[in-house]
Amino acid sequence: MDKLLGTFTLDDLRARKSHKWTVYPADVLPAFVAEMDFMIAEPIAAAVRAALDIGDTGYPGDGELGEAFAVFAGERFGWKVRPDRVFAIPDVMTGIAEVLMAVTPHGSGVVINPPVYGPFFLRLGYLSRQVVQAPLRRASDGRYDLDFAAIDAALARPDVSAYLLCNPHNPLGRTWSRDQLLQIADLCQQHQVELLVDEIHAPLVLDGAEHVPFASLDHPLAERAYTFNSASKGWNIPGLKCGVTVAGSAAAAAVLAGRWEALLASHLGVLASVAAFTQAGDWLEAVRHQLAQNRALLAELLAKWLPQVGYLPGQASFLGWLDCRGLGLGDNPEDAFLERGRVALTGGTYFGTQGAGFARLNIGTSPELLTEAVRRMAAAVGR
Ligand SMILES: Cc1ncc(COP(=O)(O)O)c(C=O)c1O
Repeated sequence: MDKLLGTFTLDDLRARKSHKWTVYPADVLPAFVAEMDFMIAEPIAAAVRAALDIGDTGYPGDGELGEAFAVFAGERFGWKVRPDRVFAIPDVMTGIAEVLMAVTPHGSGVVINPPVYGPFFLRLGYLSRQVVQAPLRRASDGRYDLDFAAIDAALARPDVSAYLLCNPHNPLGRTWSRDQLLQIADLCQQHQVELLVDEIHAPLVLDGAEHVPFASLDHPLAERAYTFNSASKGWNIPGLKCGVTVAGSAAAAAVLAGRWEALLASHLGVLASVAAFTQAGDWLEAVRHQLAQNRALLAELLAKWLPQVGYLPGQASFLGWLDCRGLGLGDNPEDAFLERGRVALTGGTYFGTQGAGFARLNIGTSPELLTEAVRRMAAAVGR
C-alpha cells in the first residue's frame, strides 16, 4: 500500500473506538459499515490538531468551505460551482432530511431506486414521507440499471413530490451516465418534482469511470437540483460531521440559508473538509488506486474460494455487492458469515427487499485484511 495510507494491523484497528470496531466481539472481522481502515490524511490531521492547540472548538464560522469545495469540484469533475451556493451540513442524511422537510408536503411520496442505501427508507419514514420504489433493473448477467419506465410511473403518481437519486449508487458502486442523468432531468421536469442528488461517493470514482455531477448538466433542471457531497466518504472522516449541499438556484440557496440552525456542521469537520478538498488530493489518489487494486483482488479471491458468489466490480468506492444466492444461505447470508466465519458484512436486505440473498463487503482496507475477510466467508461455508 502507498505509505500515505499508513500501515496498520488488526490489533491497531481494534484500538479504535468507532462503531465499526466496538459493536462486535474481538474475534469478528468487521467489513460492514461504510468507513475505511486507512490512516487519516496528514493535512486533515494537522488542521484538526492546529484547532485543538488553540482551543478553536466552538461553532463553525462561515470559513472557506464553499471556495474549497468549488476548487475540488472544478479540478476533479470539471464542475463549476459558485462558492456562495455551497452550504455546510452536519452530514448528508441530515441535509437531505431538512431539504425534504422544507420543499415537500408532509405525507407526500419520494421516489428512490432500491437496492439503495438503507437510511433512505428510514429517513423518509422519520419524516412521514412515503417511500415510492422504482427498483433498479437487474439483467441476467448481474448488471443493474435505472429502469426509466418504473421511474416515470413512480414520478407520475399525484402524491409524489420528489426524487432522491444516488450517484454513484450505494451499494453497487455504479455511476450513472450523462445520458441517463439527462433522462432523469427530463422526467423530473415533466412531472414537476423536486430533485435531490446524493453524490457522497463521487470523490471515490475509480479510474476508467466518470462522475457526472447532476448540477453540471446542460439542462434547466440542473439549476433546480440540490446536490449533496462530502469529504466524509472520500477521506474517511464521517466522525468529524461535515458535508456540503450545493444549491442549484437562488431559491434553493434561500431554503438552505433559512434552515441554518438545523444544518450546523461541526467546526472541526468544516476545518477538516477544507483541508481534505484543498490539501489532501494525493491521499485521495492513493486511496482510489488502492480501491482499484482491492476490487481486482476481490474478484480473484472469490473466483478461487467462493466461485458461487456473483460479483461485478463497481466503478466507485469501497462497495463490494455480492450475489450470495448460489451458496444456499437464504435471504440473509450475512448471518452465516458472522456466526460461522466471524466476519461481519452488511446484509443485502438493508438496501431493500431486492437485496435478499446478497451482502455488501467493504473493501476499504489493506489487501491482507480483505484476503482475511474472504477467507472467513469461505470458511463459513466449509471451504
Ligand atoms: C449514499 C450515502 N448517502 C449518505 C451516507 C451517509 O452520509 P452521512 O454520514 O454524511 O450522513 C452514506 C454512508 O454510507 C451513503 O452511502
